[in-house]
Amino acid sequence: MSAPNKSYDPVEVEALKPEEIERMRDEALAAFAAAADLEALREAKAAHMGDRSPLALANREIGALPPQAKADAGKRVGMARGAVNKALGARQAELEAERDARVLVEEAVDVTLPYDRVPAGARHPLTTLSERIEDVFVAMGYEVAEGPEVEAEWFNFDALNIAPDHPARTMQDTFFVRGATKDAESGVVLRTHTSPVQIRSLLDREPPVYVICPGRVYRTDELDATHTPVFHQVELLAIDEGLTMADLKGTLDHMVRVLFGEDMRTRLRPSYFPFTEPSAEMDMVCFACRGESADDPDRPCRTCSSEGWIELGGCGMVNPRVLTAAGIDPEKYSGFAFGFGIERMLMFRHNVEDMRDMVEGDVRFTRPFGMEI
Ligand code: FA5
Repeated sequence: MSAPNKSYDPVEVEALKPEEIERMRDEALAAFAAAADLEALREAKAAHMGDRSPLALANREIGALPPQAKADAGKRVGMARGAVNKALGARQAELEAERDARVLVEEAVDVTLPYDRVPAGARHPLTTLSERIEDVFVAMGYEVAEGPEVEAEWFNFDALNIAPDHPARTMQDTFFVRGATKDAESGVVLRTHTSPVQIRSLLDREPPVYVICPGRVYRTDELDATHTPVFHQVELLAIDEGLTMADLKGTLDHMVRVLFGEDMRTRLRPSYFPFTEPSAEMDMVCFACRGESADDPDRPCRTCSSEGWIELGGCGMVNPRVLTAAGIDPEKYSGFAFGFGIERMLMFRHNVEDMRDMVEGDVRFTRPFGMEI
């Protein structure tokens, strides 16, 4: 920019001469008119209206003029810039209209063409996993058994040796179905586990009994990342002569090998369930780290919290009291049972971090699992 020039009147700054300003304006108008597309127009705009364009530089010179010359020069530059701006807007509109017209032709879709593709859906992974587990046992000769979700308290609790004062029966855990009159006890609950199907299966069949019972169960749990009030369990029951814990362990090992890979195995930890004696929690080797994170601090595992094992569910030898409740002689028959949550298994099998994703019904969750039959 030129230095303030107090003696100057009228100033003869080259860039502010009327013919110079006209030349800059005309060059800009010509460049816009010559721009063949929006990209070229963008470049012309930068050259003729950008911070370093001749008109912008001329504009800066105005500040150096004495007051009486400023108004004249300012008017000239302002009018030139206004004309350039207007021409730019007009050319921009023209080129955009051309582009839109071209795109409409180039990308035209004939919506009347016959549609030959059906969007591929996906079955819910809880269903496919549950069926896969059933298949493992059906292949071993087990039968699939089902029971009602609205269940008599007797099947859900009493016949399973769960005493009336057992904490699981409290209103905090169980959805009770209302009686016909206020405060009347209906004796009916939404089943809290699939274990009542054990009793129904034993009442319906003569031993030996080998059944697998998948199904929906209900608990008054809050919906969060690892719990849902409505979830799925798979129950397994085997009653025969001479069955032992070794059969239970072998069956569990077989299941995890088929579902998770040949090198998988399980372990049992002592636990308590009223309907099995002895009872155990069953863990399987973490399928993500193959158990290695437990011994290697440099390899932390999120799936098992570096414990090396993942809890699958509960199991044990069927309590003789349960056999007696179902009319089976515990002196002659013995058996084992186990049950686990399918949502939890799906979580660690497919690295699903939040159980809520499974229940919200969003196809974006189910679709990646594909159309598995
Ligand atoms: C039972 O329900 C026993 N009936 C299992 C059993 C069967 C033991 C046969 C012995 C013999 P438990 O309350 O631990 O056990 O639940 C079993 C599994 O259900 C848990 O390991 C967990 O995977 C799943 N589960 C429990 N509560 C929820 C919940 N709110 N949301 C999702 N899964 C759950």
